[in-house]
Amino acid sequence: MSVSKAEGNALSASKPVATLLIRNAEQVVTAENLADPPGTKRWHPLRVIPGGAVACAGDKIVAVGPTDEVTARVELAPNATVLDVVGRVVTPGLVDCHTHPVFAGSRLDEFEMRLQGRSYEEIAAAGGGIRSTVRAVRQASEEELVRQALPRLDDFLALGTTTLEAKSGYGLSTESELRMLRAIRRLDTLHPIDLVPTFLGAHEIPDEYRDRRDAYVRLVTEEMLPAVREEGLAEFCDVFCERGVYTVEEARTVLTRAKELGFGLKIHAEQLSHAGGTRLAAELGAVSADHLDWCDEDDLEALQSANVVPVVLPGAVFFLGKERYAPARRMIERGMPLAVSTDYNPGSCPTPSLPMTGTLACLRQRLLPAEALVASTLGGAYALNRERQLGTLEPGKQADVVVWKAADYRELFYHFGVARAERVIKKGQVVWHTECEVRRPLPPP
Ligand code: NIG
Ligand code: FE
Repeated sequence: MSVSKAEGNALSASKPVATLLIRNAEQVVTAENLADPPGTKRWHPLRVIPGGAVACAGDKIVAVGPTDEVTARVELAPNATVLDVVGRVVTPGLVDCHTHPVFAGSRLDEFEMRLQGRSYEEIAAAGGGIRSTVRAVRQASEEELVRQALPRLDDFLALGTTTLEAKSGYGLSTESELRMLRAIRRLDTLHPIDLVPTFLGAHEIPDEYRDRRDAYVRLVTEEMLPAVREEGLAEFCDVFCERGVYTVEEARTVLTRAKELGFGLKIHAEQLSHAGGTRLAAELGAVSADHLDWCDEDDLEALQSANVVPVVLPGAVFFLGKERYAPARRMIERGMPLAVSTDYNPGSCPTPSLPMTGTLACLRQRLLPAEALVASTLGGAYALNRERQLGTLEPGKQADVVVWKAADYRELFYHFGVARAERVIKKGQVVWHTECEVRRPLPPP
């Protein structure tokens, strides 16, 4: 691959003026949804453009298609960057729509306890799990939370993620939940990845409220949610609805208040048991219902009728050593706008890799690589209400693009566990690339 500056072409008013041209790719691959009426959320297949190109003007995509067509459709700005990506695959930036990337402390001992036979639920009931991370986060300053999260965001970027939803939920007091959300806001300004903040004050019942849960739910609805709203710190509100955590009634109380205050709604639903969160998501018109490992066909019907995006997190099932994966294949067959996400967090799924997660979706949920890619791009955008701006390579969308060290998009999921992004472009700028890799001289013949 080579980078060159375009010689100053004469500019014409009729054609868009490209500041970045990515051309001669082996494949440009993307779903396409902009022809749908606004508000539509449905499944779309992947389109493969051999010998493709993507042209961007500033932070927007202006043309996508075969290289000769794109080249004819745009003018090059005098200082345009031209990337000849021969032998490479080009995709939209990945959109990871469910993560918990801000935390402190370590869960390595719990990892070993699980390997020795204790379950995630047992460890949580004994005061570990989420509550152990809460104890560490309560000790950490905003500065410290930011410092620890920054290298995690670098990992996401190197794996092709350009937009990341980020949840609070390891503070569980008004002050520490606000601190987490302020850390997320600061990370958004410091790092090329765009962060979409979600308030998850109802992630667990904190230690000091174990025998007065009602009082904690009141704290969430009467103090935390208005404070988060007041400071404009979160776009979504999420609840962990699960046996032993929040009941459907408690989740309804929290989410109803959140809806009144203007938050978009998300629910951790049917992760470890069939607890009923999916129906609640449909009842309240949530933007997404996430996990869904225990949901059934009637649940899918309810989600689809209510236009709720199903988000599956196969990495968490894998890392917890469970057997039951969400019926992602059925969701696609039904035409639902499936999203696959990492669930990155210190307890149930510490991988930031959407490609690795896609491999699990292929092997455990029988997705094809093309489907895993659509679910990690357009699917993620649907789950964040950003399908008009992100998730596909179409003129008018934000110029978030990844050039992969692969000649066939299926390699992203086939070479599992390998970071294969070569260049990551965010809002039309190259923000990460592998040119700093050590280049060894070839051995003598
Ligand atoms: O999505 N299920 C709840 N929350 C996370 C786990 C958080 C943790 O264990 O720290 C999840 O799996
Ligand atoms: Fe989660």
